[in-house]
Amino acid sequence: MKETLQAILSEVESAIGGIATRPEFEAFKATISGPNGKLTAAMKGMKDVPKEDKPAVGKLVNETKTQIEAHYTDALARIEAAEVASRLGPPIDPSLPSPDTLQGGLHPLTQTRRKLVDIFRRVGFTVAEGPEVETEWFCFDALNTPADHPARDAQDTLFIKPETKVGNVSRHGKDAESEAYLLRTHTSSVQIRTMLAEQPPLRIVAPGRVFRRDTVDATHSANFHQLEGLCVDKGVSVVDLKAVLDHFVHEIFGDSVETRLRPSFFPFTEPSFEMDIRSANLGKLSNKWIEIMGCGMVDPEVFKSVGYDSEEWTGYAFGMGVERIAMILHGIDDIRHFYQNDLRFLRQFVA
Ligand code: DAH
Repeated sequence: MKETLQAILSEVESAIGGIATRPEFEAFKATISGPNGKLTAAMKGMKDVPKEDKPAVGKLVNETKTQIEAHYTDALARIEAAEVASRLGPPIDPSLPSPDTLQGGLHPLTQTRRKLVDIFRRVGFTVAEGPEVETEWFCFDALNTPADHPARDAQDTLFIKPETKVGNVSRHGKDAESEAYLLRTHTSSVQIRTMLAEQPPLRIVAPGRVFRRDTVDATHSANFHQLEGLCVDKGVSVVDLKAVLDHFVHEIFGDSVETRLRPSFFPFTEPSFEMDIRSANLGKLSNKWIEIMGCGMVDPEVFKSVGYDSEEWTGYAFGMGVERIAMILHGIDDIRHFYQNDLRFLRQFVA
């Protein structure tokens, strides 16, 4: 009996370490402790043990059984741990960045807008805002744009309920009851809002969304973004305008870029210019003069509409398209890329 029990224990001890799965474990356990198992058979043999040996043999059987059960417990714990580990996969460090997911980033237009604003902030401009839904007065009249100007045509401007009357809008010398709301066609309206809210001297840039009744194609969009600039002070001249804009162009496109002011017309500036740039490193646009913004000296009529004395105050203004700058900067050939949320496009701008 003693040898039999010893043999069973040895068998368990040598086999158990090699058992890797629960079915294997159960099958092995059955050969030892199952109804037809070796240990069960040995225990049944107790009845043949002479009476005087029973206590000693019985003790040995119990000890062997206890030892074997301890082996089972250890083996099961080991198998369960392995099962859990295989379900979890390799150990992970949750504090590490995920290697295979796309990291978010700022939209290229946001990146460009921030770049533009930062450049002007460093030379003393603050950021101003105005509403996207405007009145005709802020968008046109106050900017010396007469009622018969083509920009005010319904073909170019998105009016919101032309019959809507606007009340309580701060204005100078205009009948508030006769006005319509519209989606602002340019950020120049923020010039007026700022001049009414503050006193000169002032230097502001106003980034924002604008709306035109344009058919969408590679270079037109019904909504896009502008950055407006306005400086009002004593004795401001075209030299100041040119110096600030040259500085801006060199900051954003590089020192080697040439600039020029070309005569133009805007109702709210006199004289008015288009600023063009030319550079050897602009891909397809290299070595050509490219128009990047409108600008000019604030027309005295505009000062009159906000109650500034144009004998005392002078100023310059400028306005550029954020999309246009981003397109030149990155060699983008179609404005629609900015609004289609195609990850193949957007991914290229993740820093
Ligand atoms: N508002 C003009 C436009 O949308 C751009 C512009 C031109 C703004 C000249 C200005 C300026 O401030 O001085 O086309």
